[in-house]
Amino acid sequence: MAKFLVQKSDPLYGEVDISGAKNAVLPIMAAALLSSGSCEIMAVPTLRDVTVMCDLLRSIGATVHEDYENNKIIINTPKNVASEAPSELVSKMRASALVMGPLLAKTGMVRVPLPGGCAIGKRPIDLHLKGFQALGAEIIEGSDYVEAKADKLIGANIYLDFPSVGATENIITAAALAEGISVIENVAKEPEIVDLANFLNKMGAKIKGAGTDTIKIEGVSELSDCKHTVIPDRIETGTFMVAAAITKGNILIKNTLPNHLKPVIAKLRECGVTVEFDEENILVKGDMCKIQSTDIKTLPYPGFPTDMQPQFMALLTIANGTSIVKETVFENRFMHVAELIKMGADIKIDGNNSFIEGVSHLKGAKVKCTDLRAGAALVLAGLAAEGITEVSEIYHIERGYSDFVEKFRKLGADIRKIDD
Ligand code: UD1
Repeated sequence: MAKFLVQKSDPLYGEVDISGAKNAVLPIMAAALLSSGSCEIMAVPTLRDVTVMCDLLRSIGATVHEDYENNKIIINTPKNVASEAPSELVSKMRASALVMGPLLAKTGMVRVPLPGGCAIGKRPIDLHLKGFQALGAEIIEGSDYVEAKADKLIGANIYLDFPSVGATENIITAAALAEGISVIENVAKEPEIVDLANFLNKMGAKIKGAGTDTIKIEGVSELSDCKHTVIPDRIETGTFMVAAAITKGNILIKNTLPNHLKPVIAKLRECGVTVEFDEENILVKGDMCKIQSTDIKTLPYPGFPTDMQPQFMALLTIANGTSIVKETVFENRFMHVAELIKMGADIKIDGNNSFIEGVSHLKGAKVKCTDLRAGAALVLAGLAAEGITEVSEIYHIERGYSDFVEKFRKLGADIRKIDD
């Protein structure tokens, strides 16, 4: 199994270009199933999750042309596609569940094995199913699969108990072709939801309110061709922001949208890091600062992103003072804590709070990625730790970061991928 060897690195310096957002491109690719034409998606990141989604779409009957040299994918979906997604692909990636809404709308039926993905919590799909049910679908839950079917989807008023990102996306795509008007309240407001709605509207959907608490969808009978450029990945951006701070470097992060990173910028500033930005670039200057402790509480957007919690915690392990990190989105998202402790961090967990006593330095250790963002956190910690950090199970990182090693090495990081 491949591993990363990470050595304490000099401060990272230089520029890094941010790739398209994983969490935007995956629902957009799934939504391309709704089109009766050709969808050209640009700024596609080179990720394992993207190739899994390509295979999934092909297994359903779509033609997918992958052109990673030009960061482009073209998806053509025939009129007749399968209603069932194969379990070997679904089990590889939780985002596979995002084909449910499009397939239900397009074929009147969908059956998927219960989805896999990061082990950061129970991650049920009850809210997705409640939404489908409100649109008129019958739900059949088996021991290891779930099915939704409807002769016709009819627009409805839906209230989500929690602003789930995936449920919002699945319900939007199902309602896009439903008869009549749907109003979905307490929806997720993440930028990736806005990107999905923009993509669907380019295909001819009538969706208003994405990015606010309430989305209104006027169903249309058909969706057509479109070209769309995916938004930059705010979590990749945040990871490089922390990289500058933890190595006391200066990194200019290009092709990003600072507006999507307000809580990360605010918290880094609270830690004493200088952050400057214009419309598309962020400059993080960590060279002159002594990192101070701060408290973090993860929340749905526009709150502090749960997907940045592990990376930020890596930084807080070497801050001056005590920090409290409260995780409110997922119930099991502290698996990186045990690994950071192996590296000398002083962290105690009590329920969904972790208490981090800053230490003067971390030391290299053998650690393993327990999920995607936890893996990124361990690499960041490794860049600041004395000696060598051996990071195993790196397939988690490759699921969600494009050219991870190359981008870090270009900034001066001492990181190598080795095959055991
Ligand atoms: C998406 C992101 C993931 C991010 C998360 C929260 C993608 C592909 N993944 O995941 O990177 O960490 O948003 O920002 O976009 N829940 C329920 N019932 C449901 C659905 C969700 O109880 O039907 C709960 C989950 O267990 C979790 C919380 O809601 O505790 C948030 O989940 P959700 O927003 O749905 O996250 P995902 O869409 O899975």
